[in-house]
Amino acid sequence: MIEKIQKMLAEVADLHAQTAEEAEALRIKYLSKKGEITALMADFRNVPAELKKEVGMRINELKNAAQEKINALKEAAAVQKAADTAEDLTRTPYPIQLGTRHPLTIVKNEIVDIFSRLGFTLAEGPEVEDDWHVYSSMNFADDHPARDMQDTFFVEAHPDIILRSHTSSVQARVMEKTQPPIRVICPGRVYRNEAVSARAHCFFHQVEGLYVDKNVSFTDLKQVLLLFAQEMFGPDTKIRLRPSYFPFTEPSAEMDVSCTLCGGKGCSLCKGAGWLEILGCGMVDPAVLEANGIDSSVYTGYAFGMGIERITNLKYQVKDLRMFSENDTRFLDEFVSAN
Ligand code: DAH
Repeated sequence: MIEKIQKMLAEVADLHAQTAEEAEALRIKYLSKKGEITALMADFRNVPAELKKEVGMRINELKNAAQEKINALKEAAAVQKAADTAEDLTRTPYPIQLGTRHPLTIVKNEIVDIFSRLGFTLAEGPEVEDDWHVYSSMNFADDHPARDMQDTFFVEAHPDIILRSHTSSVQARVMEKTQPPIRVICPGRVYRNEAVSARAHCFFHQVEGLYVDKNVSFTDLKQVLLLFAQEMFGPDTKIRLRPSYFPFTEPSAEMDVSCTLCGGKGCSLCKGAGWLEILGCGMVDPAVLEANGIDSSVYTGYAFGMGIERITNLKYQVKDLRMFSENDTRFLDEFVSAN
């Protein structure tokens, strides 16, 4: 028996296999239920008692050696197969055209980044909204003419469900869930029923800001907007606020920045005015706070909203709004190094 084991040990050490299938056949030959080594082990009970210890050790040795050898053969076959079927790894690769960040994303990130350094956190809301969040909670009365300021897309059969026409709806989404202090910056896409042209589009992007706390004043608003303008357009940028009207703020203002091209002297970009309008803002109307469950006798707040396309146009002088959604890579590639 010992001789037989010795012979098989030598045999196992000398096994060869080209493929995984051949190696598997060897496993079956030696190690399966009907395999040769298994048969040897079955014979073990006929071994005289005084030899059992030695024979047992040798059989185990043989079994382990066979297992190891066959596993090694399988592995070698797998490596060989991978090498046979693989591409030529030394070949020069095809050039891969890398994508670029969209200019609107670059500018949106920059706006969000500036305000997050001032402690604002990100908030988002749905693009398909209800009338309450877009208009009613923002102090637009049912028959208020200000609803006509924005041409709304309605979801047919559900006059209450609309595509949001401004990101001010996110103000309501945040206030209904959170008590002050609230300090959020809300970027997103908005929709208006307008004919598409170089200067208008049926969808575009806005960023909304909202700050509600005790003792928030118009001065705070002005300082934050000045800081934003100087971070965005350069340290020499000046701002001016003109009285305006929005249903959700009182008082309301529109903010201009000194022209990003001529610095205020007057040029074709600012049409000689020296100023460019960039956003709407104001103190949150107490009626808006109340409609959204915030006590207006304790808290005050400011809000602002700006168009991302507008800011992008001023930074990069994009002449036609349609370029932002045409996906022309000649246009997008211009922004490769921007971010
Ligand atoms: N929602 C306004 C618009 O779409 C922009 C705006 C103006 C937002 C004043 C504000 C604000 O938060 O205070 O034209």
